[in-house]
Amino acid sequence: MEGAMSTRKYLILNGPNLGHIGQRQPEIYGTQGLDALPVMLKGMLGDKADEIELVFHQSNFEGNLIDRLEMARREGLDGVAFNAGALTHTSLAIADCIAWIGVPVVEVHLSNIFARTDEPLRQKSLMGKSCVGCVAGFGILGYALAVLALERRAADRQENN
Ligand code: DQA
Repeated sequence: MEGAMSTRKYLILNGPNLGHIGQRQPEIYGTQGLDALPVMLKGMLGDKADEIELVFHQSNFEGNLIDRLEMARREGLDGVAFNAGALTHTSLAIADCIAWIGVPVVEVHLSNIFARTDEPLRQKSLMGKSCVGCVAGFGILGYALAVLALERRAADRQENN
């Protein structure tokens, strides 16, 4: 329809132990909750933020996260900002899923996993190679940056077609 605003839909997906962001170990993961995200995006995107729909999902279960990613494919979602928590470092199953679904995924971490030198296991990501990028170390802002990057990427690809 002429003049109709197109909307992009992004999934904010969180894995185990990420159901209480802002409360869990705030000295590592920050004090802000996910409720701050829409305001942040409005600040970054201005009126363009009205063209974006965010859907939120969190699960402590690996299979549930894979089901949600497969659903994102069926729904034709425009992208996923995904913090897989500890499963980032251990789950080949999640990495395999991201590799085939055809939905762009940005890996997000509240903490800077690469700076956590006291726990080398956290510096490694199994899913990273199948993601379009990674944002780590900025707390909640990381999800907003991921959505912004997905928006820019989609616009660039449209221009180049
Ligand atoms: C995390 C980092 C992971 O190592 C950890 O297991 C988490 C959170 C982050 O957001 O910094 O649960 O993904």
